Amino acid sequence: MLKKILVTGGCGFIGSNFIHYLLKNHKDIHVTNLDLLTYAGNPENLKDIHKDKRYKFVKGDITDGKLVEKVIKGNIDAVINFAAESHVDRSIYNPSIFLNTNILGTQILLENAMKYNIARFIQISTDEVYGSLKPNEPAFTENHPLKASSPYSASKASADLLVKAYDKTFGYKAIITHSSNNYGPYQFPEKVIPLFITNALENKPLPLYGDGKNVRDWLFVEDQCEALDTVLHKGKPGEVYNIGGQCEMMNIEITKLIINELSKPESLIQYVKDRPGHDRRYAININKIRKELGWEPRHTFTEGIKKTIKWYLENQDWWQRVKSGEYLKFYKKHYGKSH
Ligand code: NAD
Ligand code: DAU
Repeated sequence: MLKKILVTGGCGFIGSNFIHYLLKNHKDIHVTNLDLLTYAGNPENLKDIHKDKRYKFVKGDITDGKLVEKVIKGNIDAVINFAAESHVDRSIYNPSIFLNTNILGTQILLENAMKYNIARFIQISTDEVYGSLKPNEPAFTENHPLKASSPYSASKASADLLVKAYDKTFGYKAIITHSSNNYGPYQFPEKVIPLFITNALENKPLPLYGDGKNVRDWLFVEDQCEALDTVLHKGKPGEVYNIGGQCEMMNIEITKLIINELSKPESLIQYVKDRPGHDRRYAININKIRKELGWEPRHTFTEGIKKTIKWYLENQDWWQRVKSGEYLKFYKKHYGKSH
């Protein structure tokens, strides 16, 4: 039985939602959270469970081999690797930290998981490794070739290749999941949905890249957590599973929906210079996970975005604190002084 779970990057967006989900839904599971607390890691996301005896926090780096060995050796049944540099725009300014954390960090985790015969290893990857789709192309299946566009997606694709190499060369079978764009509570407001919700609440411009017609396949984070829990308990080692929201939407549609929900004027929308290498469209085919593991998303976008907006409305202290300090410097550099 999988009782002792090592979650890496558990103070970030998806990791913190997943730890909440695990502790709520499995009374007998214990979680160790290894997180470096970079700008994106926020212990506040887990403040309600700090005293839970089933939860342990270790501050540290997944590229620190000695620390990783110590944590894994200490009786772990499964590793779920969320820890990563995750923002595409930041990877354009500073690729090397992405390569270090996302590639080397994954290799160090794999090495130790193999050494200590950890039964389950889930590598949280992304649909971005598949590259960009044309408007009429079918959605990505698990067999789609890797064709990354940004330093971020190239680093995630490299980590995927390492997972496969550990299987082929050493016989250590980890699972890879490719998820589409998540949204929901605790998402750092550098990503488009929380950025636009919080900017709209502050009556600030919503900087839409290019023509605003890029398409993403949106997945509510609660559905992502349910999918990962299913993969953890029912997934087959060595397999790859796509996880998607069945919800392709253009950025401009999402922007207008947020504005309408918050009763703000469309004049807040400001078209800005496009992201270099900006992928046009992602869409995920979820037939495999649906057929083999019986998972599919429960939330429509309308339901998910309402829950998300409500959370940002009720947690203004959280995002106002997050939108200060280091983030402000990035914001000014990236969007310019007029924003
Ligand atoms: P996030 O940026 O919100 O959180 C990343 C977490 O990793 C933070 O808590 C950070 O402190 C931690 N971290 C960073 N470097 C570390 C290191 N060297 N050692 C230990 N901890 C470190 O990211 P997220 O959006 O929650 O994404 C989580 C994972 O899911 C990532 O691997 C990402 O590539 C993948 N993913 C994200 C999405 C999405 O839409 N957010 C979609 C598909 C896949
Ligand atoms: O597809 C999964 C990926 O989704 C994850 O692997 C990444 O970790 C995650 O960051 C996300 O990547 P995207 O680049 O798709 O997400 P982001 O929120 O940065 O951008 C979503 C879309 O919105 C994209 O087309 C770019 C656009 N955008 C983004 C920002 C930050 C804007 O138009 N303006 C903005 O200011």
